Amino acid sequence: MSDNQFKVLFFGDITGRPGRLAVRSYLSSIKPEDKPDFVIANVENASHGFGLTKKNYDELLSYGIDCFTSGNHIWDKKDIFEYIADDKVLVRPLNYPEQTPGTGCRIFEKSGKKIAVLNVLGQVFMPPVNSPLEVLIQKIEEIRTWVDYILVDFHGEATAEKIAIGRYLSEHGITFFAGTHTHVQTADEKIVNGMAYITDAGFCGSINSVIGMDYETSIKRFLTALPVRYEVASADEIQVNAVEVVFDAGFAVSIKRINVCYKNAGDDIVLLSETGGVYEG
Ligand SMILES: [Fe+2]
Ligand SMILES: [Fe+2]
Repeated sequence: MSDNQFKVLFFGDITGRPGRLAVRSYLSSIKPEDKPDFVIANVENASHGFGLTKKNYDELLSYGIDCFTSGNHIWDKKDIFEYIADDKVLVRPLNYPEQTPGTGCRIFEKSGKKIAVLNVLGQVFMPPVNSPLEVLIQKIEEIRTWVDYILVDFHGEATAEKIAIGRYLSEHGITFFAGTHTHVQTADEKIVNGMAYITDAGFCGSINSVIGMDYETSIKRFLTALPVRYEVASADEIQVNAVEVVFDAGFAVSIKRINVCYKNAGDDIVLLSETGGVYEG
């Protein structure tokens, strides 16, 4: 990587303790020469699968994560309403009503670059919110002349919505579009008009699970149609789903999809497999 390049690492939804453990293992395994300039993680499920407690907020910050993005589950732990007013790193969806606490856009400065991070909720199969496109375009127009890179975590269910809006945003100054929310990593990383794109970054958490949650409780919901309480699945085998993007001279030049699996043997976290793909534009 040349001196002028800027590397961003983005983790898909961290889900419960298995997810926090996997992210900690991954970050501590990166060699000094490979360290990213800026680290982002979606944290909407980081505390027992729902929301983010202050304790886990502090824990994740201590791992070296610079920015937290979120989604519909960010409100699930009541702690959020105590820390969100003073918080400096969390981004909640921008297309909530104006009176919703928190902010949907933050500007960071790292390695001499200004990075804007935005987060929106999709509108297809999601709780009702304002148009993500309208608020994004308005915000981009405000900031694009004075920031180096604009990153969007698009938290949505429908792939077509993310693909269409992603391409549109690539024509309007966005340099990194990462989908989140489904917890299933898509193998469609690419660079479109100088913007790094993936429909969904996936999730960090338990491998033997239903998108991070315990199989037994998940299947009971389908068998009975009752609101059975979800439990986070076991941390025996854990995964990191992430993407790493390299930028140069204002544009994305590569996007690497990361899927790393570990065996958790108590004090010992052992690497099981490492797969993914790289797209260079
Ligand atoms: Fe999630
Ligand atoms: Fe979500």
